[in-house]
Amino acid sequence: MMKICIDCDPGVDDSLAILFALCRPDIEIVGITTSAGNVTAKQGAENTLRILKLAGMEGRIPVCIGAESPLEGECGEFPYFIHGKNGIGNVELPAAEQKPIEMDVCDFLYQKACENEGEMTLITLGRMTNIAMVLAKYPDFHKKIKRVVSMGGTLHASGNVSPVVEANIGGDPEAADIVVQTPWNLTMVGLDVTLKTILRKTDIDQALGSCRQECKELLVFLQQEMKWYMQGAHRQNWMRECCPLHDPLAMVVAADPALVSTQKRITRIECEGKYCRGMVVTDLREQPIKGRYVEHCINVDSEKVLNTLFAAFQ
Ligand code: BDR
Ligand code: CA
Repeated sequence: MMKICIDCDPGVDDSLAILFALCRPDIEIVGITTSAGNVTAKQGAENTLRILKLAGMEGRIPVCIGAESPLEGECGEFPYFIHGKNGIGNVELPAAEQKPIEMDVCDFLYQKACENEGEMTLITLGRMTNIAMVLAKYPDFHKKIKRVVSMGGTLHASGNVSPVVEANIGGDPEAADIVVQTPWNLTMVGLDVTLKTILRKTDIDQALGSCRQECKELLVFLQQEMKWYMQGAHRQNWMRECCPLHDPLAMVVAADPALVSTQKRITRIECEGKYCRGMVVTDLREQPIKGRYVEHCINVDSEKVLNTLFAAFQ
């Protein structure tokens, strides 16, 4: 059983990632934390609770609200045209009875790390603010974590918030730079592979036709929220009835690392500049800058990823 803690900003693609994890019998989610990104951290937690209820998991997984702004500067505008006003493609899910746990997000993450010492994989699907904060408050936090898998960044593909910057890293570069300098086992799943992993509307329609009974409602929800998200992908990348898979790919890679090829590179995050603030800088020189080795996903077997993703609902 793989134990995971998810730090996210649901988020249409975050919700698909969460639903995949919930439906995999070999994954146990020990906690979910949120930060501002696609919507406020509060709204992200609300969305998470409603998704858990939809999946019949209400009251089973604690959800904690985290940072409402990055380590430095302002939160910025939310990308409503991609995730909708409420973050889940403007789909109205029934409200949950479960409330967010009333705990400081750093204390919550540290508690989960201690309870599952050496066993917990941390999956980050949003800005890394909460993670940078817990590392500052509890300097031994990283020692308790088995592995970190993060959706974020790009090495060679174009960025999605500037020519060279991806949204999760661009939303809080200082936090991401702290995370990449931490001595732990970190894999970054960036736009180099997520933009190659394309979900078509017809994939969801097909999955709905062949899923197990208890997953029907989940896929109907996905079908509805993806409608908005795919329109956003059209506005952003001229895609038609399809979209890239960002957060779900990170979750699938956490579950099955063999679906991507990777390279370890000395990595830092650029924290200055108009166009490059938030850029992932890797150094391949013989005498590189000071930094730690981070594993970056370079290539992906996207067909197998889609099969793995939807197999969870069959
Ligand atoms: C990332 O940004 C957010 O909009 C998505 O949820 C994903 O985590 C993609 O750049
Ligand atoms: Ca996200």
